[in-house]
Amino acid sequence: MTEIYAVKLSEKMEHSLFNNLLSCVSEEKQARIQRFVRWKDAHRALIGDILIRTIISERMQLKNEEIIFVFNEYGKPFLKDSETFHFNISHSGAWVICAFDNSPIGADVEFIRPIDSDIAKRFFSEGEHSDLLAEKDDSERLRYFYDLWTLKESYIKAAGKGLSIPLDSFTIRIHDGDITLETENEFRACHFSRYEIDRDYKLSVCATGKAGRGNIEIKRMEELTIMNYEL
Ligand SMILES: CC(C)(COP(=O)(O)OP(=O)(O)OC[C@H]1O[C@@H](n2cnc3c(N)ncnc32)[C@H](O)[C@@H]1OP(=O)(O)O)[C@@H](O)C(=O)NCCC(=O)NCCS
Repeated sequence: MTEIYAVKLSEKMEHSLFNNLLSCVSEEKQARIQRFVRWKDAHRALIGDILIRTIISERMQLKNEEIIFVFNEYGKPFLKDSETFHFNISHSGAWVICAFDNSPIGADVEFIRPIDSDIAKRFFSEGEHSDLLAEKDDSERLRYFYDLWTLKESYIKAAGKGLSIPLDSFTIRIHDGDITLETENEFRACHFSRYEIDRDYKLSVCATGKAGRGNIEIKRMEELTIMNYEL
């Protein structure tokens, strides 16, 4: 079953906490996080890694140093030596989320901000674009745009091949709440869910397992307890 954990970042972390958490992630990740210019990007990437480490350590009784991530050639992370534990992280604005399941999964959360209408034309398939234009007003269109955006991104992330899968090589349609996929792509045995996390955000998940959707569990920062630090 797909399960989702989410953390809301409300304010800038104190230096000592940030450094403490930073020491819990891999050296490669530490270097990447330290290269971010904006502290918000650094915090989101760090909390994503800490969140998944917390879940793995709780679920699998692993110590932090035993949690090792490997990456496919498109950068999708996996837990080393575990074929039945799949996860995907996404972050946007104040939210960091992690979806996990026992088969490949992709997730995307996006803060809803105004967009330029050309973006939809550029990124969406013809069918998606015409569905978008059929929405009744600007506000509905914006929400539908982000539904499609997060659904498409969740598909790309579940497939794990990045943008080597062209965004217009598949069409996602939402009718009466049912979400369908039209594609000739090899990756198609999947199904979609949308989750309500926050009125100002959209969150979509593309799962390949049969067990269905679970809940979202919101975790507080204080609950992110991995083995080698204490808050
Ligand atoms: C990198 C990409 C996987 C997601 O990017 P994003 O939406 O900016 O970022 P998200 O916050 O949702 O996800 C980032 C996380 O996905 C994971 N990830 C990285 N590469 C991945 C891949 N190839 N497949 C799946 N997950 C991946 C990582 O855990 C990453 O976390 P980190 O940056 O903290 O290490 C990729 O799909 C991308 O670049 N997309 C471009 C966006 C776009 O044009 N979207 C149009 C949609 S219509």
